[in-house]
Amino acid sequence: MPIHACENSWILETQHTAYVFGVHTTGLLAHRYWGAKLPYPGDYPGDLIEDRLVTSSYVLKEIPFNGLGNLVPQEYPTGAGTEYVEPCLKVSFADGVRDLRLKFERAEVADPELRIHLRDATYPLSVILHYRVWEAFDLIERWAVIENAGDAPVALERVLSAQWHLPIGGHYHLNHLNGRWANEFQLRREPLVQGVKVLESRRITTSHHHNPWFGIDRGSADEERGDVWFGVLAWSGNWKMAAEVTDFSSTRVSIGLNDWDFRWSLEPEQSFTTPSSIAGYTEQGFGAASRHLHDFIRETVVPHGDALHKVLFNSWETTLFDVAESSQAQFAEIAAAMGIELFVMDDGWFHGRKDDYAGLGDWWPDAAKFPNGLGPLIERVNQLGMDFGLWIEPEMVNPDSELYRQHPDWVIHFPTRSRTEGRHQLILNLAKPDVQDYLIEKIDILLSESNITFIKWDMNRNVSEPGWPDAPGEPRELWVRYVQGVYRVWETLRQRHPHVTWQSCSGGGGRADLGILRFADQVWVSDNTIPTSRLAIQGGFSQVFPASTMEAWVTDMGEEFLPLEFRFHSSMCGVLGVGANLRQWGEKEIAEAKTWIALYKEIRPIIQQGDLYRLGSPFTDEFIGVQYVSKDQTSGVLFAFLLHRLDPAAPLILYPRGLVPDRLYTIEGYSGARSGAAWMKTGVVVQLPNFGSTVRRIWSEK
Ligand code: DGJ
Repeated sequence: MPIHACENSWILETQHTAYVFGVHTTGLLAHRYWGAKLPYPGDYPGDLIEDRLVTSSYVLKEIPFNGLGNLVPQEYPTGAGTEYVEPCLKVSFADGVRDLRLKFERAEVADPELRIHLRDATYPLSVILHYRVWEAFDLIERWAVIENAGDAPVALERVLSAQWHLPIGGHYHLNHLNGRWANEFQLRREPLVQGVKVLESRRITTSHHHNPWFGIDRGSADEERGDVWFGVLAWSGNWKMAAEVTDFSSTRVSIGLNDWDFRWSLEPEQSFTTPSSIAGYTEQGFGAASRHLHDFIRETVVPHGDALHKVLFNSWETTLFDVAESSQAQFAEIAAAMGIELFVMDDGWFHGRKDDYAGLGDWWPDAAKFPNGLGPLIERVNQLGMDFGLWIEPEMVNPDSELYRQHPDWVIHFPTRSRTEGRHQLILNLAKPDVQDYLIEKIDILLSESNITFIKWDMNRNVSEPGWPDAPGEPRELWVRYVQGVYRVWETLRQRHPHVTWQSCSGGGGRADLGILRFADQVWVSDNTIPTSRLAIQGGFSQVFPASTMEAWVTDMGEEFLPLEFRFHSSMCGVLGVGANLRQWGEKEIAEAKTWIALYKEIRPIIQQGDLYRLGSPFTDEFIGVQYVSKDQTSGVLFAFLLHRLDPAAPLILYPRGLVPDRLYTIEGYSGARSGAAWMKTGVVVQLPNFGSTVRRIWSEK
């Protein structure tokens, strides 16, 4: 039983961790402990931690300036009374009262879930805090449900998913992912000091700029060792994360929907459910933190978590909008001969799409480019032994399109303001059910009429003028209802076409999160396909997401300084794809590509389903390794990449991880087996030129 309840206190235990909270003597729901699992229930602190703060006579003298709510680390603070820490919930009642005092009512244990019911002392507003224990993954999932049992609406002005507390008094560093288009997932690390560090998206999607993931280490954790608390938000729209250190050295992370420009009218008898935040603790560094998330995502989040993804070809970087039946068929022939299994036609195939000025919204084949529809091309691709995939960008519309001419009011806009275009396109208001229905109908036709087994769902701009003129209620609900609309369209299509694999793309990695991964099996990580940049982008992405979700193409980018081998090796670290101009590749390149694709097919179960070990950092090191080990620890793959060797005498050694110490393993390039312990302690030496790479297989003796 992972949940232990005793006198209004709860211990949530996973395999190696524990999360403890209870009703404080003040009546507040107070956090007590989050860290390594301890031997006995009595080991966990009671109100002790808080008492250390609130009963110290020195602190008590401060009460006029710091109320108890400000001193007790609360599970779900509301900013009531003299409480100035980041609140999770902020409401405004119909009578103008904006003070919310939640009192504990009752708890329900439905293992592995715990529900804590809180209620305002005066108003009929309840909050149900949900805790789900993911024992095997060492993770806790939290979300909140707000219920209005009154007869007047209540305005929600902030409604976060959780506040996660770290042990009081530690010196912490916040690790987070920052970036921009074509440079996503850059790992940043900075000390947390008194005050609030806010990371967020106001762009209506998750965004390229920050990702809703945190990794907080105490002291200095590395890949292998050290205390790390980490978490994510499963949401694909505006989000906010506030890492706060109070003036009493209490560190916490509040995470949830962004309250910027947010307001939700909670009508009588209605409830509001927040997205989930999932978090964990490990004493084995960032590597273990990532592996917990990877397993969780593969096993519980993505729809086809145990499927092996196919090697694909994508037309975009070669043909841009210039797609047509005959030219695509030519690429398909070369691709099939190389061993590619899935042929994906990108942008340019639909009605009126001659460039990026026109066509979005009209999701049927362009009659000039495909006079007989997509059927003949798909048949040819299938005859060649490949599956067929297609690119769409459902949320967008070009003003030059049939759809916009018919429904100019379907876009997000303010009536008195001009509509700012991004890439000559506007955003359809997916909060509107008729827009959702239109998209479901059009995409359903495509999927029903043709043998399409893969869809790349793109989204190529961020929001502007966030208006919803004919909103039935509060127009600022747009931010949430839009994302719910995207989810509804995606979910409906998934249900109708369960065999289709979906990819989430937003100009690269602008929409990568655990919310979208409930619908999409993989992510197009970046439009930057230069392998040297890509190693860092992939390294950052791998903090959160498993290799099975990381689509990576070999393109012609970087060909002027990187051998084809390097380009393949870096893409083989995820789901391998090819997006190069194959018609310009010579026989030598095609033959080499064929060899790498064949090797990838052999090792992909280890890469896509195994455990990842980052050997070195692509953000700071010139020489790094990326290693995967099968779940049964019988086999592995080791990639090594050298960018530039400053000291020609410095040896290039990688120390593999994740092997069974007393099992015998052989590593390609070495004769004879050695114990896992020997490899891990003595290392693997490689010889590489600058911009050189290698891949070594690892297998254990029978
Ligand atoms: C942006 C994507 O990231 C690219 O891969 C490609 O699909 C283009 N959009 C097409 O417009």
